[in-house]
Amino acid sequence: MPIEYSTSDHSVSERDTLAEAATRLDRNPLALVFVTDPDGRVAGRVTPQDVEAALSRGAKRDAKVTAAMAPVGSGDDGVLPVLDSAKKLAGLRTPVGARKIPIAEPTLGGNELRYVTECVETNWISSQGSFVRRFEAEFAARLGVPHALAVSNGTVALHLALAAFGIGPGDEVIVPDLTFAATINAVVYTGATPVIVDIAPDTWSMDSDAFAAAITPRTKAVIPVHLYGQPADMDPICAIAKRRGIFVVEDAAEAVGSKLDGTPCGAIGDCGTFSFYSNKLITTGEGGMVVFKDDAVAARARMLRDHGMNPAKRYWHDEVGFNYRLTNLQAAIGCAQLEQIDGFLARKKSIAARYLSRFAGTAEIECPHAVEGFDNSFWVFSVAVDRGKVDLDRDALIERLSTAGIDSRPLFYCLHEMPPYRGYAGNRAFPVAKRLSDSGLSLPSSTSIRDEEIDFVAGTFKRIVAARRLVRAIAA
Ligand SMILES: Cc1ncc(COP(=O)(O)O)c(C=O)c1O
Repeated sequence: MPIEYSTSDHSVSERDTLAEAATRLDRNPLALVFVTDPDGRVAGRVTPQDVEAALSRGAKRDAKVTAAMAPVGSGDDGVLPVLDSAKKLAGLRTPVGARKIPIAEPTLGGNELRYVTECVETNWISSQGSFVRRFEAEFAARLGVPHALAVSNGTVALHLALAAFGIGPGDEVIVPDLTFAATINAVVYTGATPVIVDIAPDTWSMDSDAFAAAITPRTKAVIPVHLYGQPADMDPICAIAKRRGIFVVEDAAEAVGSKLDGTPCGAIGDCGTFSFYSNKLITTGEGGMVVFKDDAVAARARMLRDHGMNPAKRYWHDEVGFNYRLTNLQAAIGCAQLEQIDGFLARKKSIAARYLSRFAGTAEIECPHAVEGFDNSFWVFSVAVDRGKVDLDRDALIERLSTAGIDSRPLFYCLHEMPPYRGYAGNRAFPVAKRLSDSGLSLPSSTSIRDEEIDFVAGTFKRIVAARRLVRAIAA
């Protein structure tokens, strides 16, 4: 059953005024109304942008709504009326099917089942099978790094990396304010002290000046996060880190496939970590990878991943380690996903290009910034809404999109505002992270999304924003 939209909420009478239509547009899920004649037949449709155009042509707010009416099917971004035999409005049709358009669902259309079946048929289902080694080798080759270790998820990838560099109590690790909590949790697991810094407005990732200002003699590592696929500003971060003897651990959980000046994210610093959770560019259900350049650190990480067991002496433990291994079943899915990664990346980029073209010229919507040399994988297309221009709370916006059949997510909450992490904020300021966190949201970006769904998401979003703008203008 497709989502049902109320016909009464989405219609106005020919006799209604532009001001009345504006109020209706600002309250219904699709921010669109069909205009009905005195016999109840659909005569046309009106969007907030149509009303704005009519007002700018000189129509008064108490003019009839027909002054703004456009033909049905013109620029509706996929919203069409369903008419009964008397041509009356019986329903609304949109590209939304039985469930909301999802944010990021996996595409498992390749050899996944075949490879998993092979694991079962050969009895290799633990972490010892050949798919693990193949997944690691192919991933390392893609990144151009000597060592890739498959692990159970992206969080333990971070923990393992920090542990391999010997980070622990007494050390400080610098992290950005806007990221998924796993970034900072991994630091806390080691016993080191996280130090939270603000992000930059162009990359939405760690601000290199804020990083430099937060360094103390105890700073051991920095974790730039390539947020939503946009590379962090690695050149200054790596230069500063090198000068000060600080390890650079790239959190590339969201940036499989992103590049900076041609170098893959994760292969720029001393180490990179990845997540293969089911919403990521490639997935193993749960899973992760950590890549290293240094042979000795990689060997230590390998040992720590396997309980800290001496690789030459079974059941002899030189250190307290962890079981952070990935299973052959998961790696089998990973290998099948890697075979499709170029297609996934191309689709993510074309999705982003379509959103960017649809949002171009909408001043209220801030899209990811194009930065020269930054090759964004556009894992999920995320935007921020200018709260100064749009009098609509981000959470209310998410709710509006949801009733229209569109799933969206808030950007992450600022780490410095959440109870477990407040103590790591010092007296630093976080204006950029705060602004984006309060106003940002991620939009449907599955590789399987159809173009007409993207148009519907962008069109509905723009109409909602325009309806707010319109109501404000009419009230002024
Ligand atoms: C930036 C970032 N770091 C780390 C992680 C942790 O990855 P996982 O969920 O695989 O543990 C995520 C997961 O979504 C993430 O977005």
